Parts: sequence; C-alpha cells; structure tokens
Amino acid sequence: MILLKNISKSFGNQKILDNISLNIPNGDFVSIVGPSGAGKTTLINILGTIESFDDNKDSEFKIDGIDMCTWNEYEVSKFRNQNIGFVFQLHELLPELNCKENILLPVRIGKKNIDDYRKKLESISESLKIHQILNKKPEFISGGEKQRVSFARALITNPKIILADEPTGNLDSKNSKKIIDLLKKVNIKYGVTVIYVTHNKEFASIAKTSFTIKDGKCIRS
Ligand SMILES: Nc1ncnc2c1ncn2[C@@H]1O[C@H](COP(=O)(O)OP(=O)(O)O)[C@@H](O)[C@H]1O
Ligand SMILES: [Mg+2]
Repeated sequence: MILLKNISKSFGNQKILDNISLNIPNGDFVSIVGPSGAGKTTLINILGTIESFDDNKDSEFKIDGIDMCTWNEYEVSKFRNQNIGFVFQLHELLPELNCKENILLPVRIGKKNIDDYRKKLESISESLKIHQILNKKPEFISGGEKQRVSFARALITNPKIILADEPTGNLDSKNSKKIIDLLKKVNIKYGVTVIYVTHNKEFASIAKTSFTIKDGKCIRS
C-alpha cells in the first residue's frame, strides 16, 4: 500500500500541493487528472521517490509499511530501482543506446546480472511487439514504438508499482489506446499497482480509483 499523509509541496512561495493525504492499496488502477500546472507530475514524482516534499513533522510517506522519510538517498534509490517503473510522456529514452540497451538500463543500474533478464526481455518484447526493433536506436523508430520501449523498460525488473505521467500525451488515439490497454493488462495479469496521469476523460474513467488535483488538493472523484 502507498500511504501519503499531510504532504505539501512548494516551489519558492508557491504551494503546489496542499496537505494531501491518500491511500492506494496494492494492485489498484489509479488515474490522476487535473488542469495543466495543477501538480500532477509533482505528485507522481513524489510517489516515485524522485521528488522531495515540504518538511513537516505531520507528513508521512510509506510504501508497504516502509517509511520513505527515514531512509537515506541510497536506500530510497535502491528501493525505487527494484520496485518502481516509470513511463514518461516524453519516453526519455537515451538516444545513444539502442532499444534493447534502453530497456535493460534499470537492470544495469541495479547491478543485476543481465543474463537473468534475457527471457523477460524476450517475452516483454514479444507482447509489446517491439522484438523486431530491439537493435535500433530511438531516432529510427516511431512514437508509438518509443512509448512501448519505455514501457518495456518500466516492466523489465518486475516492479510492484508503475507510474505513468501522461503516457499517451504524444500519441495518436490508436497508440494511446494500446498503451492504456497495456497498463490495464499488467495491472490485471501481474497485480502491479498502476498510477497514471491523463487528460483523456475516457482513459481516466477506466481506472478503478480516480483522483483530481486542483487548487493544491487531491480529491477522489
Ligand atoms: N522544479 C520546479 N521549480 C519550480 N517550479 C516548478 C518545478 N516543477 C514544477 N513547478 C511548478 O509547479 C506547478 C505544478 O507543476 P506540475 O506538477 O508539472 O503540473 P502538471 O503536471 O499538473 O501540469 C507548475 O506551476 C510548475 O511551473
Ligand atoms: Mg505534468
């Protein structure tokens, strides 16, 4: 379970998130909507342990009972590498690496044996239909393929949580639908907790739980 309690986030004197509390049970399928600039990315990044929040003695942030606030940066980044997969709007693939190397990056960062992940790479690539482009560099593949490669990178280490920040933001409706279907599939098949930001009302409504971020608050809708 992901637990956030009394979390605020300010940039300078601008309070973006104002005392947010939420509980997300394992295996939930969660959408986050809200106007541009409302703080959706900020919240996703806090959940992903890549963004800090305002210092406050009443704040709590726990994942599966583990107190993220008391861990040091090394422990947190190790936890992140093993448990959290990210899919970004701008896929953030490294241009100098081919698709396969991009997908295996979390394995390398986690200092795990790449050979142990060959089978997983194969099965993910087949199911995402990217097995034929694994040796290509990102500049030579389409937008939909890039997003599926970044999806494969998020899945390679069997994360418990997938965070997707506008994963369909740059895609046409057909490819968008594919990405949302894949999110749903990993949620159902592997029980992965999926939290995604979207502007698309239809995609938001597929979620089991929906939150709207507005005026610093996060309201269950
Ligand atoms: N690193 C930062 N420094 C200063 N302001 C930031 C930073 N990141 C985000 N913001 C501001 O915080 C607000 C919320 O941003 P963001 O979480 O990206 O919104 P959303 O994803 O909902 O569009 C915006 O006003 C944005 O300009
Ligand atoms: Mg954003």
